[in-house]
Amino acid sequence: MVAPLRIGLAGLGTVGGGVVRLLDLHGARLAERCGRAIVVAGVSARDRAKAAGLPLGGAQWHDDCIDLARRPDIDVVVELIGGSDGPARALVQTALANGKHVVTANKALLAHHGVELARLADENNVALNFEASVAGGIPIVKALREGLAGNRLSRIYGILNGTSNFILTAMSKTGRAFGDVLAEAQALGYAEADPSFDIDGVDAAHKLSLLASLAFGTEVDFGAVHVEGIRHVAAADIAYARELGYRIKLLGLARVTPHGVEARVHPCLVPVDAAIAHVDGVYNAVVAEGDFVDQQMFQGRGAGAGPTASAVVADLIDIAHGLRLSPFGVPTAALARLPASPMAQRMGCYYLRLQVVDRPGVIADIAAILRDESVSIESLLQRGRAPGEGVPVAIVTHEAEEAALSRTLQRIAHIDAVLEAPVLIRIESFTAS
Ligand code: HSE
Repeated sequence: MVAPLRIGLAGLGTVGGGVVRLLDLHGARLAERCGRAIVVAGVSARDRAKAAGLPLGGAQWHDDCIDLARRPDIDVVVELIGGSDGPARALVQTALANGKHVVTANKALLAHHGVELARLADENNVALNFEASVAGGIPIVKALREGLAGNRLSRIYGILNGTSNFILTAMSKTGRAFGDVLAEAQALGYAEADPSFDIDGVDAAHKLSLLASLAFGTEVDFGAVHVEGIRHVAAADIAYARELGYRIKLLGLARVTPHGVEARVHPCLVPVDAAIAHVDGVYNAVVAEGDFVDQQMFQGRGAGAGPTASAVVADLIDIAHGLRLSPFGVPTAALARLPASPMAQRMGCYYLRLQVVDRPGVIADIAAILRDESVSIESLLQRGRAPGEGVPVAIVTHEAEEAALSRTLQRIAHIDAVLEAPVLIRIESFTAS
């Protein structure tokens, strides 16, 4: 039997605890599968009490996680601390520089410093594996880096944040308002330490920046992702969407256009007959489109102790087998640096919701602006009667350029009879890209 793979584990929160339990429960199976045991040789966490009750065997405790990266007898550092800077970054840098493999669930770290860390991993000929950082238990990193690597991928998109999906699903099923269901989602333990990362789209954008790099062989460019969250999605939008044959989902979408990489996270109206419209609750889904494989959809639990631990251990198994690929699938020095494709050039259909005074001529004024901007209306819903008072109007447009929609919205907002800032939600129909 080959010598055990000795790991140093930093972070004993939900995910860290899950990894320790999995390694304990399946230790014998894994040893057989890998031809060597995977042993936790050292641990570190913010609070020593976190270790209580965990089956840590003879693992040595370290007050300072950096010690794990310096111990000569540790082969792999598992970073489950979180945060794009601070101790997580220092630990990963030190481990890689010291020739240790790294496994991490930290999407924020990689979204901000992925290229620099991947370069360090390549230079030191060690693995930097991050399956758990995107879509929890779904093996999407491995799928892009290995399973689909023969294809030219044209587009990747998905539901990448379980908390937002849980909130939108609950709003859709119960008609409740956003604020009402947020607290419930947090109580379920899927949320980020900073819950605004979930609902403002930041967490999904971190993940999308990694998926885009893996899919297109480009440098990770978090700053190039257009990010909007779900705070402004109202119960009225969900009801209108349903009536119009759509569901509202927070999606991350990335593709290569003639102008560069288009990467965006925002709420979308998706047709009710699209498979992704039915991925509900805390589930994640990722769709990859390749020239030889066509469309592949991956669906599963995107968060939580079990699924995330499953992904961390899969990365450890690869290392135990001696498999090392460049972190983003191609040598880091060969990753392309492409510009961000401007949002203003996005072509697509749009949903608008306006609150307007109920009086003759208001719709004509709105329609005139749409006409002037060459935005064609597909449908318009205005119900109710409240002479001189506010009534909602929902409009769906035909395909138009985002720049024209932005001008349209600015002009509509200036009409006296328009009582609130107009709401715009993009429609994604998933036609061939
Ligand atoms: N907070 C994330 C989510 C889980 O809600 O999907 C970890 O990535």
